[in-house]
Amino acid sequence: MANIIDGKLVSASLRDKIREDVKAFTEKSGITPTLAVILVGEDPASRVYVRNKHKACLDAGIGSIQIELPADTTEDELLSRINALNMDENVHGILVQLPLPKHINEEKIINAIDEKKDVDAFHPANVGRIMTGKYDFLPCTPAGIMSLLDYYKIDIEGKKCVVIGRSNIVGKPMALLLLERNGTVTVTHSRTKDLAAVAREADILVVAIGKPLFVTAEFVKEGAVVIDVGINRTADGKLVGDVDFASVEPKASYITPVPGGVGPMTITTLLRNTLKAAEKSTYEK
Ligand code: GUN
Repeated sequence: MANIIDGKLVSASLRDKIREDVKAFTEKSGITPTLAVILVGEDPASRVYVRNKHKACLDAGIGSIQIELPADTTEDELLSRINALNMDENVHGILVQLPLPKHINEEKIINAIDEKKDVDAFHPANVGRIMTGKYDFLPCTPAGIMSLLDYYKIDIEGKKCVVIGRSNIVGKPMALLLLERNGTVTVTHSRTKDLAAVAREADILVVAIGKPLFVTAEFVKEGAVVIDVGINRTADGKLVGDVDFASVEPKASYITPVPGGVGPMTITTLLRNTLKAAEKSTYEK
């Protein structure tokens, strides 16, 4: 029987602290940390994420600006919106919800965001800082996972960590953060030979491959910590992770459920990053 890693509980506790820190900062500086989120198009999942970010900001005392643009918005229009937010000193964080419609070049958009307002930590300058360990912002999901491991006092040093998935948003930065904490890290992906055998070596297994119920008991060593980043909707509308919870849970020592595991932590990091951006804006003036 695994211990369940309760992302809702950890999130609530961290958000209480963020709310206090925002209040103290606002009282001292007169500045309300503010996040601007741009959503282009009608993707239903993105709409839900953006709505959740908006609610979480307000709950933490963070200002929230939501900009909703039609799916046929041109790249130039989007760039000019970003530029306006870059120039606006009342906006401290900028997040463009991904994925963008196909006709817009995501890389160009990410590069256009002022790196000091890049609360996603997707800008190449911020990605580079993560490589060297001297960063201001960490990407929201991997940083949220580190907070979960810390909350449950799961030791990383010297442990075999296997990351399944190599995306820029989760897999790659996750590997760097585990490495920074002295984990011995293997990054695997769809072309990895005998993936189950490699995964079975892991003391800490992080799964972010985007395939529903992909990881079954044969991928998991007895007593491993299993972190499931996946959010997939089944044909009957149920949310499931990339891990087959029912099959893996009996073998794991700790496991994150879906929903209620990693998911809530992503927005929690975003709130922390927005406060940090606002704080930095005051001492860099
Ligand atoms: N789409 C899915 N996850 C994310 C995220 O963390 N940031 C942004 N900007 N878009 C996303």
